[in-house]
This record gives sequence, C-alpha cells and structure tokens, in this order.
Amino acid sequence: MHVTLFMVQTINGIIARDDYEEDFISEDNWTTLKKLVEEAGGFIIGRKTYEIVKKWKDLSFDNFKAIKIIVSKNKNIKYNKQYILAGSPEEALRVAKASGLSKILLIGGSTLNTSFIKKKLVDKIIINIEPYVLGKGIRIFSEENFESKLKLLMMKKLKSGIIQLHYKIIRHNACV
Ligand SMILES: NC(=O)c1ccc[n+]([C@@H]2O[C@H](COP(=O)([O-])OP(=O)(O)OC[C@H]3O[C@@H](n4cnc5c(N)ncnc54)[C@H](OP(=O)(O)O)[C@@H]3O)[C@@H](O)[C@H]2O)c1
Repeated sequence: MHVTLFMVQTINGIIARDDYEEDFISEDNWTTLKKLVEEAGGFIIGRKTYEIVKKWKDLSFDNFKAIKIIVSKNKNIKYNKQYILAGSPEEALRVAKASGLSKILLIGGSTLNTSFIKKKLVDKIIINIEPYVLGKGIRIFSEENFESKLKLLMMKKLKSGIIQLHYKIIRHNACV
C-alpha cells in the first residue's frame, strides 16, 4: 500500500493551535485535500482529528467520495458508520487493501503521523505551507525519535500564497 502523508502547516511546522483550532489555515487547502483524497480513493485519520473535524460547520470529511478509516485503540468510540474503525496503522492499511485500494492518503493529526513514520509506513509527503508563523501549537510530528531522508520531487505555488512541496521518502533511518 502506497501511503502519502498530506499536511497543511505554518512555515514553522504547526498544524493546529494548542486548543486544536485551525483558524489560520485558508480554505484553499481543503480543495487540495479533497482532490488528493478522491484521487487516492481513501484516507486515514486519527480519532482526535475525526472528533474535531466532525464539529466543524462548513467543512466535512463525510462528503469525500472515498474509503474513510479512523484509527483508535478504543473499539467503543462513537463514529459515523460510513467510516471504518482500525485499531492500529497496520490494521488501517489491511482494511484499505481489503477495500481494493493500492494507495491511500494519511491526513493527520500529529500523533497518527508520528505512529506511521516511526513504523516506516510513509512513502511520500505532500506539505502545503500556509504563509503564517505561529509560536505555539501542535506540530506535524510529535517530538519523538525517528528520522527519514527525503527527495524533493516538486514544488508549486497555489492560491492564497500557499507553497506545495512533494517529497518522496528515500530511506527511513533506524531510530537511535
Ligand atoms: N493542518 C492539518 O493539515 C491537520 C490535519 C489533520 C489534523 N490536524 C489537527 O491535528 C490535531 C489532532 O492531532 P492529535 O495528534 O492531537 O490527534 P490525532 O493524531 O488526530 O489522533 C490521535 C489518536 O489517534 C489514535 N492513534 C494514533 N496512533 C495510534 C496507533 N499507533 N494505534 C492506535 N491508535 C492510534 C489514538 O486514538 P485513541 O486515543 O482513541 O486510541 C490517538 O489518541 C487537531 O487539532 C487537528 O485539527 C491538522
């Protein structure tokens, strides 16, 4: 299964405020997200991201034409049954394969991104850099021990001054 991590971040790597708000992120990013998800045919999200986004009034993952997978260790969470619940990153990928997908988008949040990259399950990273600096907040990855060597494949300028970067992961280095 080919896994692409897609994230929107400030220029200093923040994906949300400490209170989980993403008000500094422009709506143009949502257009990119929907397009990438529907091209891949599916997406994977962490339980917290699912719960936060479902409270939003104007934007919803529910409308995406895609296989929708939530990762949580808790089998008893309440969720919309158009989503599939997986107990681990590995189980999420098995579910995606069983659903007929060969590629999938990983779309956060920070904890789930970190779980995937530590397990060497990410093949590509696409970052939309919002023209914004935010001193405090949730980072794209948690501060843990992992490292990967990347190759820049492409960069383009989108609406609202967003810079999009595409990286291929060449090698996941051993954690020390
Ligand atoms: N800017 C962006 O592009 C972007 C994208 C996505 C999200 N976000 C933001 O990111 C924030 C949420 O990030 P977060 O780090 O707090 O939460 P998260 O990664 O969305 O969800 C964390 C939860 O996912 C489950 N999980 C993670 N790794 C797991 C593993 N290895 N096995 C089983 N379950 C696992 C756990 O659920 P249980 O506790 O239920 O076991 C964990 O508590 C929100 O503010 C959201 O708005 C931003």
